[in-house]
Amino acid sequence: MPVITEIADLKRIYKRRVPKMFYDYAESGSWSEQTFRENVSDFDQIRFRQRIAVDMTNRTTRCQMLGQDCAMPVALAPVGLTGMQSADGEIKAARAAEKFGVPYTLSTLSICSIEDVAEHTSAPFWFQVYTLKDDDFMRRLIERARAAKCSALVITVDLQIMGQRHMDLKNGLSAPPKLTPASIANMATKVSWGMGMLGTKRRFFGNVVGHAEGVTDPSSLSSWISEAFDASLDWARIRQIAEMWGGKVILKGIMDVEDAKKAAELGVDGIVVSNHGGRQLDGTTSSIKALRPILDAVGHNLEVHIDSGIRSGQDVLRAVAMGAKGTMIGRAYTYGLGAMGEAGVTKALEVIHKELDMTMALCGRRDITEVDRDILMIPQDFEGRWEKR
Ligand code: GLV
Repeated sequence: MPVITEIADLKRIYKRRVPKMFYDYAESGSWSEQTFRENVSDFDQIRFRQRIAVDMTNRTTRCQMLGQDCAMPVALAPVGLTGMQSADGEIKAARAAEKFGVPYTLSTLSICSIEDVAEHTSAPFWFQVYTLKDDDFMRRLIERARAAKCSALVITVDLQIMGQRHMDLKNGLSAPPKLTPASIANMATKVSWGMGMLGTKRRFFGNVVGHAEGVTDPSSLSSWISEAFDASLDWARIRQIAEMWGGKVILKGIMDVEDAKKAAELGVDGIVVSNHGGRQLDGTTSSIKALRPILDAVGHNLEVHIDSGIRSGQDVLRAVAMGAKGTMIGRAYTYGLGAMGEAGVTKALEVIHKELDMTMALCGRRDITEVDRDILMIPQDFEGRWEKR
């Protein structure tokens, strides 16, 4: 086994071990993938101020997100089809998160169901909802999340229709994978993945198959989204869903100051500045470029978190120093999961934690809750100067 020192090491192993269809699903952005790429490259534009001769003992990355104690300001993002990256993937990821002391977010489009994850973990997890047209299903879904003692509802607000990702269409993405000569030939080379899949019953969308109707191909993510999702989602419906839940709510997928202000008016507990990992509106800016104006507008009213493009603890520090209360990682832990199952998710968290902790120290700080923009060098005009609207 190679020595793993960075997230890129996990990605290399992941690529070898998981069928191409699921690797491509995780590793794609929509259309030209400009936003997907810039999510990562824009983080690199932000530099750190090196400070010296500062006591670096007794450091801590402990913090709170949504009033919950966390080992570091990182949560595992909801990722559709996680249980196709590794058998029972959602349970493995949730267990790794629990042991590490960070929140896990379960996707509506997961393979393991809410009940399954609750049964195999003890820390409460966050549940992400997509809004489906079927109101009875939505009520039941929220009831199920409540019964599972989920501690927050993450409402995704940027995906009523799905951004086109070329590879998923070309690969015929589905769960379980459809058996074609190409998929069979590829899966035959992924021995440990295949053994895991043969050993589990969980190979379907566990939260929706058998619970919601009206989809011509229940194994297809795009059928669920195009046929069952509520494309008419608006602020009134978001309010209704938040009220149905009644507990802590985060809206995920906000990139614009006007939308952030509407979220604040709704009285939600937090938002995630996110462009869905570059998977939805290609050509929008990176999420790190959207962060500062949103913080300046609503940062004192609610918790502002960020995802999309975070691949290291240094990126976590950049976002937190800028003012984000928390971050979410999706691909970074998926690489670990596909590479080595639960141990791989733990490894991804360890790598990120170490990078975060050491970078904070080399910037002369010891407590993550006290870092601020003073440790950063942000290029002038980082957010860009655009024509006035
Ligand atoms: C679903 O959330 C996706 O981005 O594929």
